[in-house]
Amino acid sequence: MLKITCCATKGGVGKTTLCANLSAILADQARVLMIDADPQPSLTGFFPIDAGKQGRPTGLVNLLLSDDLPAPAATTIPNLDVIASDDPAGELENRLLHMPDGRLRMFRALEQVKGYDYVLIDTRGARGALVENAVLAADLCLSPIPPEILAAQEFIRGTLSLFESLQPFSSLGFEPGQLTALFYRTDNTNDAKTIMHSISDVLSQRGIRLLKTIVPNRVVYREAATRQVPVHLHERQRRQGISASQTLLDLQSELSGILDTICPLSRVFDNSSLGANDLSARSTPRGGARALHPKSDLK
Ligand SMILES: Nc1ncnc2c1ncn2[C@@H]1O[C@H](COP(=O)(O)OP(=O)(O)OP(=O)(O)O)[C@@H](O)[C@H]1O
Ligand SMILES: [Mg+2]
Repeated sequence: MLKITCCATKGGVGKTTLCANLSAILADQARVLMIDADPQPSLTGFFPIDAGKQGRPTGLVNLLLSDDLPAPAATTIPNLDVIASDDPAGELENRLLHMPDGRLRMFRALEQVKGYDYVLIDTRGARGALVENAVLAADLCLSPIPPEILAAQEFIRGTLSLFESLQPFSSLGFEPGQLTALFYRTDNTNDAKTIMHSISDVLSQRGIRLLKTIVPNRVVYREAATRQVPVHLHERQRRQGISASQTLLDLQSELSGILDTICPLSRVFDNSSLGANDLSARSTPRGGARALHPKSDLK
């Protein structure tokens, strides 16, 4: 089971749209679980919930605070389930802050989740215990950067320092997911090109991966969200330029290559009854004294 967290400490950069559309294209070929870890539940309602399949699905609060086996809700997209955000007052964040393992609840909870090939977690555009949980639970953290000066500054000031602040967890065996940036909502202006150039330099100096795939600023992403459909189905082809479908396929393919290097043994588990890429058999039982992180375990 490969875990991807969409994160950025800046609000409005495209985390939820990216998380939903990437989940949907992955669900064409695999079982995918989305977790909405933002108190503003945008991912929860991004695609319709399949009411017919619903019993009493697990929400975020139960996922993180109870030991019950999670029962996600089904969306109307085949192979795509969701754990809804159900903490509108934001009390969960406070509860986590006061728990001894408050930064590791998501990591532990995902050890209980079976039957998915991918888990994608959406986060809020700020720092906090929930975002830290999502980063520590992930194999890879995907951070969209629009080429705008405020977004670029906040990536360097906020997102990078969030990851630096979590480094001490590595010595306990819990490595933050590998930070991977992508240019998002780009346009062809000179200003955008200048900012992209500067950010590329900063990222390469700091050894942070930047995807080749670029997601442009296009109205089809907003239209698809309005209709609650995946953008790769909303725009399958385009007369001129790269279609949204092609952009998402490029993103999927590039990420798949990277995930193969982060979790190289995942292929061994192909066709397992737990899910095509399930690695959870390698992780320690919930509540273990000093759990080995699957990522360090595989190195
Ligand atoms: N590629 C794109 N092109 C144009 N508009 C986009 C694109 N992706 C997302 N948007 C729009 O940008 C806005 C912000 O996107 P989104 O809600 O995904 O950001 P966010 O980072 O999750 O925000 P928040 O921090 O508030 O959760 C939305 O109106 C969305 O429809
Ligand atoms: Mg969002």
